[in-house]
Amino acid sequence: MHQLHIFLTTLLAAAAATAIPVGDDVVARLEPRSKTPFAMPLCKGIDIEDATIDELQRWMILKHLSSEDLVSCYIDRIKQTNGYLRSISEINPDALSIAASLDKERSKKGIRGPLHGIPFLVKDNFYTDDKHNTSEGGLVLLGGRYSQEATVVSKIRAAGGVLLGHAALSEAADHRALANFSDGYSTRVGQTRNPYNLTQLTSGSSGGSSVAVAINQAAVALGTETHGSLMHPAAHSGLRSLKSTPGLMSRHGIVPGSFYHDTPGPLARSVKDVALLLDVMSGPDVYDNLTFEALGHYPKDGFASWVKSKDSLKGMKLGLPWNPWWSTNAAINTPGQRELYEGRVKELKAAGAEIYNITYIPNVKTIANPYGFGQPADTPEEYGQLITYNTLLAVAYGEWLQNWKFPKRDERHGMKSLAEMAAWNDAHNSSTGALGNSTWWFNTISGQDFYDNAIATNGTLGDVFWKAFNWGRRTAREAIDGGHAYVLKNGTVIELDALIVPNDNGGGGDSACASIPSYAGYPVASVPVGQNGFDVPCGMCIYGRQWSEATLIRVASAVDDLFQWSAKPKWHNYKTAKGPWEEKWPGYACSHESLDRYACEKE
Ligand SMILES: *[C@@H]1O[C@H](CO)[C@@H](O)[C@H](O)[C@H]1NC(C)=O
Ligand SMILES: *[C@@H]1O[C@H](CO)[C@@H](O)[C@H](O)[C@H]1NC(C)=O
Ligand SMILES: *[C@@H]1O[C@H](CO)[C@@H](O)[C@H](O)[C@H]1NC(C)=O
Ligand SMILES: *[C@@H]1O[C@H](CO)[C@@H](O)[C@H](O)[C@H]1NC(C)=O
Ligand SMILES: *[C@@H]1O[C@H](CO)[C@@H](O)[C@H](O)[C@H]1NC(C)=O
Ligand SMILES: *[C@@H]1O[C@H](CO)[C@@H](O)[C@H](O)[C@H]1NC(C)=O
Ligand SMILES: *[C@@H]1O[C@H](CO)[C@@H](O)[C@H](O)[C@H]1NC(C)=O
Ligand SMILES: *[C@@H]1O[C@H](CO)[C@@H](O)[C@H](O)[C@H]1NC(C)=O
Ligand SMILES: *[C@@H]1O[C@H](CO)[C@@H](O)[C@H](O)[C@H]1NC(C)=O
Repeated sequence: MHQLHIFLTTLLAAAAATAIPVGDDVVARLEPRSKTPFAMPLCKGIDIEDATIDELQRWMILKHLSSEDLVSCYIDRIKQTNGYLRSISEINPDALSIAASLDKERSKKGIRGPLHGIPFLVKDNFYTDDKHNTSEGGLVLLGGRYSQEATVVSKIRAAGGVLLGHAALSEAADHRALANFSDGYSTRVGQTRNPYNLTQLTSGSSGGSSVAVAINQAAVALGTETHGSLMHPAAHSGLRSLKSTPGLMSRHGIVPGSFYHDTPGPLARSVKDVALLLDVMSGPDVYDNLTFEALGHYPKDGFASWVKSKDSLKGMKLGLPWNPWWSTNAAINTPGQRELYEGRVKELKAAGAEIYNITYIPNVKTIANPYGFGQPADTPEEYGQLITYNTLLAVAYGEWLQNWKFPKRDERHGMKSLAEMAAWNDAHNSSTGALGNSTWWFNTISGQDFYDNAIATNGTLGDVFWKAFNWGRRTAREAIDGGHAYVLKNGTVIELDALIVPNDNGGGGDSACASIPSYAGYPVASVPVGQNGFDVPCGMCIYGRQWSEATLIRVASAVDDLFQWSAKPKWHNYKTAKGPWEEKWPGYACSHESLDRYACEKE
């Protein structure tokens, strides 16, 4: 009852704060093809459910479907499902006309490339220079405009992609609150829910993008990651994704969280789709100086040429970083998960992969929380990585606001710091954790403790910052690099292709796919492997070394081709108004104390 109350209060608060943009009043009104609730309707007689970019392109080449048809079918799908899931923030009012003109161009001049006419969604922190609002899910930036469109969005448009809409996100990409924080909630759109089990989390912060793809509101969507925000939603929506080395793709025009950790990335149904998008999105940009570090690291023939079948698992060298990610990690110790993950490792072995059980990872005890997420409880304070995220967040908003303009008469005109943003939130009651009333962290409406902590750093890139940052970056890099070097007893070193780690942050388990790659600024990919005990998908993440994205595409595509996991969302609990938060797994407890250290602990 209490939870119901909070959920309704959340919805009412969201509805009062702003008109819910899309699908609020729409119930499943299209004829279902099966007994599954919300079955995907045919598109002009053609089944596009779970279609990949190549499949959609084939229908267009064969002239069975046009881009305009696709846009119109996906918009219908959004209207059919969004009232329940709230994964979409806004539909592009120009999507149909953009598609129509690309259809015309196709018939006159042929296609620009594999993305020609393909509808795509972006998380609502990508600025798009059109009728959309880019708001990061909050109210404080709503109504402002940036100097240029996000470079990666312009690149996809130039390659023929059709921007279909903006997807919901955990407000401010999870940068607004950490303690009083509802995963997947944003003031503007409300609570995004997981179509596999609506009382379960979508996993932030790119959860709107991942849910949208899982439920076929589009075939592909872009998200962003600073610390887990692509890997976690990919796992919980059964999708493929890759978080690159920051700098592989431009971040210009995307509301920033951290200069050294942010990166955009695709959420998709196949590794090939991920690679096709990386090919278009990668490259240097004068507006993002980190992209120049990527020069010389792009694969010559593009990422898509690195997509392989399961045959290339033969002789592939994969490491299991046993301690702690296969031993104490909460994700693998939740009921049923060890059997699932170790079974998958046996399949890889049977398919010809060489599996190395790594028992030594440099620094792992000092940098990695044994349960998965964040740092160990006894990390010296000066090495706390939150220092780096807090400081960089204050810097990031300061820089963003220099080019974010509100109309002259708007009271926010001239707003230039995160402190002013937080004060605006306070003044507009858009800042409270007070509605949430639970010791359970998912159960509260976002406060702004992350903002407050960031403001307290003054954005000072001084000794305190660099000490923590350099320590985190060095120790995490040594852990991943060292993990890739498997040393035999006689001293021979075998260089591994990648490291594999369970990726499930369900039920009090905590994924190990966020923190170490984020601290290191190294890439990580994820593919789905099965479902956890709550009937929600979970994944396996693949750690790589700096700029090893092409290798990660090769490994992820081969592994994915072997597992070929797929399951339609079952919409468990879609009739309940119960808020989406996870129950803990038997045997695990998340106390506030343990969450301060970013992990749930064994009881
Ligand atoms: C942008 O926000 C304004 C004001 O909230 C709204 O009127 C408009 O419809 C929004 N744009 C889109 C594309 O939804
Ligand atoms: C690169 O850009 C960032 C963000 O704009 C800025 O903070 C940094 O000083 C720049 N670095 C160099 C070397 O120009
Ligand atoms: C890996 O090594 C650890 C520690 O020696 C051992 O407990 C574990 O069973 C091994 N796992 C596999 C899959 O061989
Ligand atoms: C904020 O909430 C307080 C207490 O409920 C109320 O008095 C005040 O008018 C509200 N302010 C705004 C701007 O809505
Ligand atoms: C979280 O919310 C509770 C109750 O609403 C409040 O007492 C507490 O101070 C908040 N914590 C933070 C860190 O904002
Ligand atoms: C919070 O919840 C508890 C238990 O459900 C209830 O006793 C208490 O009155 C609530 N507090 C507020 C401020 O709503
Ligand atoms: C931030 O600035 C305030 C006011 O100048 C100062 O009191 C405080 O110590 C500064 N904090 C940090 C972490 O530098
Ligand atoms: C070390 O051991 C491996 C595996 O037994 C063997 O293949 C390799 O030849 C050995 N190297 C040396 C230098 O003895
Ligand atoms: C869905 O999640 C809830 C907890 O949030 C759990 O109790 C339930 O068993 C899960 N699965 C189904 C089929 O409802």
